[in-house]
Amino acid sequence: MCGIIGYIGDKPANEIIFEGLLRLEYRGYDSAGIAVLDNGKIHVKKDLGKLSHLKELLLTDFGSHSPQGIGHTRWATHGRPSAFNAHPHGDSAGTLMVAHNGIIENYMKLKNRLIQSGCVFSSQTDSEVLAHLISINYSGNLEEAVLKALSEVEGAYAIAVIHKNHPDRLVCARKESPLILGIGEGENFIASDATAILHHTRNVIFLENLELATVKRDGVEIFDLSGNRVEKHIKQLDWNPVAAEKNGFPDFMLKEIYEQPQVIRNTIGGRTSEEEGKIYLTELGLSGPDIFKFQRIVIIGCGTAYYAGCVGKYLIESLVKMPVECDLASEFRYRNPLVDSHTLVIAISQSGETADTLAAVKEARKKGAKVLGVVNAKESSLTREVDGLVYIHAGPEIGVASTKAYTAMLTSLTLLALLLGKIRLTLTPEFVSEQIRALKILPQQIETILANHEQIKELAQTFMNSKNFLYLGRGFNFPTAMEGALKLKEISYIHAEAYAAGEMKHGPIALIDKDMPVFVIATNSSTYDKLISNIQEVNARSGTVIALCSEGDNEIYNHAHHKISVPNVSEILSPILNVVPLQLFAYYAANMKGLNVDQPRNLAKSVTVE
Ligand code: G6P
Repeated sequence: MCGIIGYIGDKPANEIIFEGLLRLEYRGYDSAGIAVLDNGKIHVKKDLGKLSHLKELLLTDFGSHSPQGIGHTRWATHGRPSAFNAHPHGDSAGTLMVAHNGIIENYMKLKNRLIQSGCVFSSQTDSEVLAHLISINYSGNLEEAVLKALSEVEGAYAIAVIHKNHPDRLVCARKESPLILGIGEGENFIASDATAILHHTRNVIFLENLELATVKRDGVEIFDLSGNRVEKHIKQLDWNPVAAEKNGFPDFMLKEIYEQPQVIRNTIGGRTSEEEGKIYLTELGLSGPDIFKFQRIVIIGCGTAYYAGCVGKYLIESLVKMPVECDLASEFRYRNPLVDSHTLVIAISQSGETADTLAAVKEARKKGAKVLGVVNAKESSLTREVDGLVYIHAGPEIGVASTKAYTAMLTSLTLLALLLGKIRLTLTPEFVSEQIRALKILPQQIETILANHEQIKELAQTFMNSKNFLYLGRGFNFPTAMEGALKLKEISYIHAEAYAAGEMKHGPIALIDKDMPVFVIATNSSTYDKLISNIQEVNARSGTVIALCSEGDNEIYNHAHHKISVPNVSEILSPILNVVPLQLFAYYAANMKGLNVDQPRNLAKSVTVE
């Protein structure tokens, strides 16, 4: 989704902005642009395409003497991807430039009014109205003009503005869409997220909703949207910039798949006592009596986070014996959900910025529910909207297709279920100790799977030209099938559908023939025999079965054409292991097709619009 970066200091702005845009690439985009202010003149360059192709345009004969500017990567919402729809956008007289992330919902009404008053539009975007609105409200004070313009817009925005009369500042503001300020020495930054500026500074200020900032070389000032000064603290991020580098891997996705053993160690680290059978989740924000009071749990999320939530449902129902419902955030928010003060809502999100998840959380809290966030990005918007938190500690995830955040979410949900079960007396300390022991072995077991990558690569080569795929699973591993199918379609563009294996006979069985490979998650479980019957049903229709099975399962050879083995683990922990071969399979299929696995077409990492 769109990324914004702004710079003011004494270095060449175009280079710093271009480098920042490269670091924001992972958010997904289709076009990019930079505007700089140089000796009272604004220069702008923008075009359709990836930054690797725009490098010459954005760095040659442009802005190298300018110490101040803004840049943007655009993910099209209003108006097709094109040079004229790319940001930054200016006003008719060319006095200012604006980069915007979000959606201005009342833009048509504003645009008609602005056209009638003589403004000339040069794009189809909703964002351009901001440039004209700021311009017509300008009478010498840029902050005042921005505040007046923003008072008229409805929707979501993070904006960065430069004006030719103000070579000493950048102005920015946010509502719903994220924006942070990076505080340097004699230079300051604006960015959509910290990855863009970690190489320059780890000192940041998180702008809150409805705040505006004046960013100068030697300091920043922050105001609310009524123009009152707001005091903010500078926070020091502990994220290591190297974690956002490829570290010798060809892509971020492969690197992140291989990081999973360490990520799980980090997720568990310091949160368990094996001897006492105890779990510590210090930011939970819920007391024992709170936890006893809840009658049901609703888990919400989008994409991969939603599938993690589906595993969470199986985990909590089996360990805590409470009814759990799992819903897509975009559905939950509009269906007048039946939640109240006896409901615990668990919102799962890697970025903590997904617009649907944020809106669903607000809806749940309005109805009196307590909300717990299971989140990766520290200080993200979601962390400020919830009653308590379980950080998943996956570190920055750059690949658009989520991998390490998924396994970290599952590990965190397991810790949470164990803690809730312990408090609600459905689990004994001995059982919890046993699970902690098993959790601690998971990283080694994942390393065993990663060491088997050649076999998975060969299978991917065999099937990379398939047009369709079916993924089947049951119980705890039905969500694994859904996540596996999602990975394959996201990055390899092979159509893949996931079904609960027992449901196959009610429809998808009609699709099975020799051209339909079927991936069956058939590791040890209480429904293993039922899965074998489902495999037989596929075989009887000439389908090709790839079975994911537990080590030592020789029986499966009688039923499946291909098998991938994973180490033995209990059914409740099996989703954490089982997804890894599916990630690798999707990765290799896409990689061998020559596709860009880190930035698949049309997808965005952080979806900050509805
Ligand atoms: C986008 C990403 C997915 C992610 C989903 C939810 O669609 O491409 O990888 O699972 O958003 O994101 P969140 O940050 O809320 O987990």
